[in-house]
Amino acid sequence: MELTNLNNKTILVTGAAGFIGSNLVMQLLGNNEQIKIIGIDNLNDYYDVSIKEWRLQEIEKTIAKHNDSSWTFVKGDISDKDTITGLFAEYKPDIVVNLAAQAGVRYSIINPDAYIKSNLIGFYNIIEACRHSYDDGAKGVEHLVYASSSSVYGTNKKVPYSTDDKVDNPVSLYAATKKSDELMAHAYAKLYNIPCTGLRFFTVYGPAGRPDMAYFGFTNKLLNGETIKIFNYGNCKRDFTYIDDIVDGIERVMKKAPERVTGEDGLPVPPYAIYNIGNNNPENLLDFVTILQEELVRAHVLPEDYDFESHKELVPMQPGDVPITYADTSALERDFGFKPDTPLRDGLRKFAQWYKDFYNIEEK
Ligand SMILES: NC(=O)c1ccc[n+]([C@@H]2O[C@H](COP(=O)([O-])OP(=O)(O)OC[C@H]3O[C@@H](n4cnc5c(N)ncnc54)[C@H](O)[C@@H]3O)[C@@H](O)[C@H]2O)c1
Repeated sequence: MELTNLNNKTILVTGAAGFIGSNLVMQLLGNNEQIKIIGIDNLNDYYDVSIKEWRLQEIEKTIAKHNDSSWTFVKGDISDKDTITGLFAEYKPDIVVNLAAQAGVRYSIINPDAYIKSNLIGFYNIIEACRHSYDDGAKGVEHLVYASSSSVYGTNKKVPYSTDDKVDNPVSLYAATKKSDELMAHAYAKLYNIPCTGLRFFTVYGPAGRPDMAYFGFTNKLLNGETIKIFNYGNCKRDFTYIDDIVDGIERVMKKAPERVTGEDGLPVPPYAIYNIGNNNPENLLDFVTILQEELVRAHVLPEDYDFESHKELVPMQPGDVPITYADTSALERDFGFKPDTPLRDGLRKFAQWYKDFYNIEEK
């Protein structure tokens, strides 16, 4: 398996102050030489902006250790076409990683506009800019890597979820926008020969993760003495993927763009690929919560005598929920020799420690 080198490349990362984006930037700075990274993020307040600012400070610390590389942060919105056109004209990225999006399934009921704006118009602006990067015979973008989501699988019953499965039945606007991105990418790959890879992430967790996700919300609630609700009485299985595994996977994928091949009709065969990035090892929700509890106690976020039983409510399944979801990651293994392998306990330990430090929690 031939993976190109990212040394000397110019890379545009959208959503760079986000959970996955910021970790990707740090990983790329750490692993490559003379890499030029441009990050864009609108720093919106969907969740606590101070976490996004903290992540940007961590990037600044990382770049200070790698001064042969460069890092430029632009506060801007990918749904603004002029901003994106200007960025591409100024920096001429070799590789684009689109992670900016309105994430979250439930919020798409409250604020659907945000999904249309960032996930459809924003993604369209990025892919249009990729198309025009080849104007006047320019070398242009070598590879567009973009975030899709496991939510495109909707309520599919067949597990593990495979990229060969039909995903035409989204059950949230969020999922519908992510599936639309995959469709737009396919059309543009075919029309303009843009090498595109979509990545369907499965529940990513870790330090400085997203506060809207269950493990983070559970922690906040337990600390405030509130009760957490565990759906389907805890009998759900999910793939939880640690952030370091995710960024490792993204970096590998960035290094190998789908090949440009001419078909029998003399037209390009779309250089287009989709992969799942998940653990391929579903964990029972109740086990997940137990490990989280133990690690919160270990990190002194919660006291040793915390009465977990009285702060847990086992409730039935929510409409639309599926009892078990996990990723078939065989294609990722085959093409990139890669499989996430961080044990849940190690990942949750790092989260608990970060949480304690970030919120400056007194020893319990
Ligand atoms: N974390 C997960 O479990 C998970 C699972 C599946 C898919 N994804 C996808 O991965 C990507 C990254 O997710 P994340 O968990 O890091 O989320 P995140 O919300 O932490 O990061 C997204 C970043 O994009 C920025 N952003 C949003 N709209 C923007 C816009 N219009 N212009 C510029 N910046 C904008 C936000 O400010 C945020 O910092 C997203 O596309 C998300 O849908 C994440």
